Amino acid sequence: MKRILVTGAGGQIGTELTARLLDRYGPAVTLATDVREPATWARSGLAEQLDCLDLGALRTVVTRFGATDIFHLAAILSAAAEADPLRAYRINMNGLVNVLQVAADTGCRVFTPSSIAAFGPETPRDPAPQSTLQRPTTMYGVTKVAGELLCDYYHTRFGVDARGLRFPGLVSYTAPPGGGTTDYAVEIFHAALDRSRYTCPLKPDTRMDMMYMADAIRAIIELMEAPSASLVHRNAFNVTALQFTPAELADAIRVHVPAFAIDYEPDPVRQAIADSWPERLDDSEAREQWGWRHEYELPDMVADMFRGLRTNLARHAAGAAGR
Ligand code: SER
Repeated sequence: MKRILVTGAGGQIGTELTARLLDRYGPAVTLATDVREPATWARSGLAEQLDCLDLGALRTVVTRFGATDIFHLAAILSAAAEADPLRAYRINMNGLVNVLQVAADTGCRVFTPSSIAAFGPETPRDPAPQSTLQRPTTMYGVTKVAGELLCDYYHTRFGVDARGLRFPGLVSYTAPPGGGTTDYAVEIFHAALDRSRYTCPLKPDTRMDMMYMADAIRAIIELMEAPSASLVHRNAFNVTALQFTPAELADAIRVHVPAFAIDYEPDPVRQAIADSWPERLDDSEAREQWGWRHEYELPDMVADMFRGLRTNLARHAAGAAGR
């Protein structure tokens, strides 16, 4: 029977993936972990504090829980990684190799996300093929390419069933992202509701690849449920959904907040990172090998973001009034 351990469960992907895993497989078989105290992030189900840089602690938790699948999400995102590259290297690389080693020793399957950041300025920009030149210019990208190679290595050398997705920027209303270059596409919604105005850290015409979190979570579940024999690629599949610029996103937001205004103060670090990534990934191999298909287009995503954020605000207001 499946028993699932999640690392980084309090983070941007982890929050929503854990909720989905609890629904799909049940609360008794899903253990959410994060380096932070559960009181600061856990909502329901089994949760505990775990630092995946501590190999002994990781091994103990995996063995004690009897995990069969590890969803390894603990990582530092791109802009935060440029602020402290050595810390990002330590967390992104050592965390992953520990997970893979424990998986090799215990027979666990592993999911870990890669990213559009695994590509660099020499990669074809539109679209970036599944198999192509990967020479990223960021520390985050370096750890993602090395992570893909490590996962493939543990698969061929030790038979670990390791699978991954190269995600574009992810947009969601549940947990805020932390330190990504694509974070603007989430912050802009909060700013639109708070003050109808946003100062964007990227130029208006910076076209980036993006996906709504609901599609991303479904992609993870579908990839992990796909028969192993159908997968030619494992680490990691390109997946994509939407491509838009900050100016186009602002137009889509004005459908819901007509007075919304945007100005631009490009941050040199984030702009350089965005410019080094492809505008679009070619995800035809994911579509062919395990039936990937995105559902949310830009207007659907924007409408659902406002619905979700307004529900959250109403819930907080009701909670504050009840205290
Ligand atoms: N969303 C991530 C970032 O901007 C890309 O994987 O860092």
